[in-house]
Amino acid sequence: MLPSAGYALALGLCAFGAVSAQSYTELYRPQFHFTPAKNWMNDPNGLIYHNDVYHLFYQYNPGGTTWGAMSWGHATSKDLIHWEHQPVALLARGFPDAITEMFFSGTAVADVDNTSGFGTNGSTPLVAMYTSYYPQGQELPSGKTVAANQQAQSIAYSLDDGMTWTTYDAGNPVIAEPPAEYADQILEFRDPSVFWHQESGKWVSIVSLAKLHKLLFYTSTDLKTWKFVSEFGPANAVGGVWECPSIFPLPLDGDDQNLKWVAQIGLNPGGPPGVTGSGTQYFVGSFDGTSFIADPESLEQTNWLDYGPDFYAALSFSGLPTDERIDITWMSNWQYAAAIPTDPWRSSMTVPRKLSLATVNGIATVLQQPIVQEQTSTPWRWSSSPAGVTKLNVTGKALDATLSFSKSEATDFGLIVRASADMSQQTRIGYDFTTQELFVNRTSSGEAGFDGSFSSVYYAPLASNDGNITFRALVDWSSVEVFGGDGEVTLTAQIFPSDDSVDAYLFSTDGSTSGVELRAHQVPSTWN
Ligand code: FRU
Repeated sequence: MLPSAGYALALGLCAFGAVSAQSYTELYRPQFHFTPAKNWMNDPNGLIYHNDVYHLFYQYNPGGTTWGAMSWGHATSKDLIHWEHQPVALLARGFPDAITEMFFSGTAVADVDNTSGFGTNGSTPLVAMYTSYYPQGQELPSGKTVAANQQAQSIAYSLDDGMTWTTYDAGNPVIAEPPAEYADQILEFRDPSVFWHQESGKWVSIVSLAKLHKLLFYTSTDLKTWKFVSEFGPANAVGGVWECPSIFPLPLDGDDQNLKWVAQIGLNPGGPPGVTGSGTQYFVGSFDGTSFIADPESLEQTNWLDYGPDFYAALSFSGLPTDERIDITWMSNWQYAAAIPTDPWRSSMTVPRKLSLATVNGIATVLQQPIVQEQTSTPWRWSSSPAGVTKLNVTGKALDATLSFSKSEATDFGLIVRASADMSQQTRIGYDFTTQELFVNRTSSGEAGFDGSFSSVYYAPLASNDGNITFRALVDWSSVEVFGGDGEVTLTAQIFPSDDSVDAYLFSTDGSTSGVELRAHQVPSTWN
C-alpha cells in the first residue's frame, strides 16, 4: 500500500552513521577534510547557507561502504572548517529491505517568498530538488506511474531550517520525464540544480541528459510546475556522461558591472589529460533567465576546474551574496572510488574553495582559493636552493605549505611530502620549468594496488609570472590539493601513505633554484 501523507525522513542521531564519540584517527582519516563517520559518500548535494549555518548534504549509503541505497547525509558548519554530523536528511525509501526510491544528487534553495506555499506561519521553507531513482516500476502516491530504473526530478521541503525534510508526495516527481523528443532518456535524466533568477523573477532548474551531454533548462514560479525552456550542449565533452551541472554568476576581474555565468559540469569518464575516470569541466558565458550561451573563447578548448584525478561533482552554496561563490567537491573518482583502502568510511570532500573569475592569458578563468584555518608561519628563505633534495624542519601528515621560487638552473623544483625515512615512499608536488606545468606525482605515494591507473603523475599548465612561480599545497592524511598561481589551476589527488611517512623536502632537479620562500606548518585536526 502506498503511504498517502508526506514521508518524514529525519532519523535519530544514533541511526545510520551519525556519530557519538568519534576519534577520527584511523589510518588515512582526513583531519581537515569532511568525511562521514562511516559508510560510503559521493557527491555533495543541497549546499546552502541559511540563518548563519552552512549545510552540506551528500550522497550517502547508510548501509555500507560501497555505492547503494542512496540517501542524503547531512552535516552543518558555522565556519566551513568544523563540521557537525546531523541525522540522515533523506533516507532511501524502503531502506533497508525493499528500496522503492533512492535520492540522487540535487540542490537546495531558501524559498524566502514562500512561492511553493510549503511555508506555514511566515516561516521560510527550504526546498530541495533532487533526482528520484526508482529501482522498480510503481504507481506513486501522486498517481503518477514510473518505470523501473527511471530517473525523475522531485522536491522535498524543510520547515525547521534544514534539519528535517518532507517529500512532496502529492506532486512528485515534479519533472517526471524529459521532453518528448528525449523520451528514450528517462534512465539518464538527473541532478537538478535550482536557483532563483532575480531579473526574470523565476526559479531556474538545470537537469542533465547525461548520455547526450545536454543540459536542459526549466523555469518555474512555484518550484512545483516546471516548463522546459532551452538546452545547452553537447560541447567540449570527451566521452562519458555529463552529470551534476550547475551555473552561477561571478563578476569578471572584480567588476560588478560585468557579470559572467559559469557552468560547471561533471564528465565521467573523460577527465583531464592523463586522468583515467572522472573530471570536472566548465564554460564561461551568459545567461538571460532562459538560455546559457558559452563565450566563443570558452569553447575553444576544454576548461578543467581541476587537473587532478580526484575532483568530481563540484557544487556551490546557494544563499550567499551574488559575488560570493564557494564550491565543495567530491574528492574521489568513479574509476576506483569503491576500492580505496579506507575503513569504515569511503570518500572525502575537498576543502571548501572560494571562487572568483579573472582574465588569465586573455580568457575568463575560474580562480580557486581554499578555505582553511589560516596560520601565520615564519617563512624559510633560500637565495639559492641546492641541487638535489633538502630536508625540511617541518614534518607531519597534515600540512599547509606555500612555496614561491624563480627559474634558474633546475629543470624542476618543488616539495616532497609524506616521505618515509628512506624516501622510498614520497609524493612530489612541483613545477616543470621546461613544460611550464605544475604536477603531482603519486607514483610512490603508498598503497595503490587497488587500481591500475592510480599510480600516475598529473599535470596542469601554469605560466610563470616573469619567471616566478607560486603554489600552495594542502596535504592531509590521504590527499593533496594544490593551488597554482592565484588559483587559476588546481590539482587534487588522493594518496595512501604509511602512517610513519611524515618527512618533507625541497627538491631541485639538475641544478639549483633561486629566490625560494617557503611557509609551511602542520594543520591541526578540525574534528576535536
Ligand atoms: C554523480 C552521480 C550523479 C547521481 C549520483 C548517484 O557522481 O552519478 O549523476 O545523481 O552520482 O549517487
